[in-house]
Amino acid sequence: MKVGVLTGGGDCPGLNAVIRAVVRKGVQEYGYDFTGFRDGWRGPLEGDTVPLDIPAVRGILPRGGTVLGSSRTNPLKQRDGIRRIKENLSALGVDALITIGGEDTLGVATRLADEYGVPCVGVPKTIDNDLSATDYTFGFDTAVGIATEAIDRLHTTAESHMRVLVVEVMGRHAGWIALHSGLAGGANVILIPEQRFDVEQVCTWVTSRFRASYAPIVVVAEGAVPRDGDMVLKDESLDSYGHVRLSGVGEWLAKQIEKRTGKEARTTVLGHVQRGGTPSAFDRWLATRFGLHAIDCVRDGDFGKMVALRGTDIVRVPIAEATARLKTVDPALYEEVGVFFG
Ligand code: F6P
Repeated sequence: MKVGVLTGGGDCPGLNAVIRAVVRKGVQEYGYDFTGFRDGWRGPLEGDTVPLDIPAVRGILPRGGTVLGSSRTNPLKQRDGIRRIKENLSALGVDALITIGGEDTLGVATRLADEYGVPCVGVPKTIDNDLSATDYTFGFDTAVGIATEAIDRLHTTAESHMRVLVVEVMGRHAGWIALHSGLAGGANVILIPEQRFDVEQVCTWVTSRFRASYAPIVVVAEGAVPRDGDMVLKDESLDSYGHVRLSGVGEWLAKQIEKRTGKEARTTVLGHVQRGGTPSAFDRWLATRFGLHAIDCVRDGDFGKMVALRGTDIVRVPIAEATARLKTVDPALYEEVGVFFG
């Protein structure tokens, strides 16, 4: 049995832990051979491979990024993409493909498995934690940890100058990172894409915080949009998913706060810092368990399935379940956290 492995989409702390677990168990327990595909779906499309064996995965557990490389290449959007993938897998003697990715990568895997009979197993990843069918994705805990540390640090500089500090975190469509890091870091306002925000209300919270002699921290997800829709975007373009990419909400909000409250405001955009570097212990644990269960799916011939975390159990679900809809923040949960605003 030869197993192909690829990592697609944005990188995420814990990808290497999955690769290591898949290879270690696959070689040691089942005697499988492996082929690594470079740069997500570009690898099988172009037959671009890297050797993947026990020596290749030594020492990679704590490393961020992915030793296989990643890309947002979508073979479904390429001429003859499916045919080329099938031909390359067959030429390389690859009997099964473990695809580690988010919405886009897994969307391709589900179609390849369900419509074209390509034996794919899915492993969910994204720092955004917005994939359905799994309680958590690895990478999220690391991203929340980094954002929380940043908020902790920003509190002291905000207090020293009695300024408003706006922290923009990742999350185009879901506010999980904003919500978790904002709560953990004691933010005074948290704004998420799921609920349009009212700039006047934000300013009221900011002012009441100053009245209590504290400097406010506002955490805003990059995809958050003001209620009146009058946001002037610094840059508006389509990302590789074809979604409108909003850019600059943090800076825009800081300017609005300054204008409306007369208080000085600064913005910190955390950006890719949240995605880089070593994974947290939880993410290593989750990614490793996903890897161990993914190779068992291969052993069982259970294709078109994805591993998922339910409570403390790793279960198998159709890959399509993860990609059918985004897992967004429930309004009741957002309201619960709202007790700390202002
Ligand atoms: O999907 C994960 C994510 O980190 C989003 O939160 C963010 O908007 C996006 O990736 C950034 O992608 P890229 O690295 O392609 O700019």
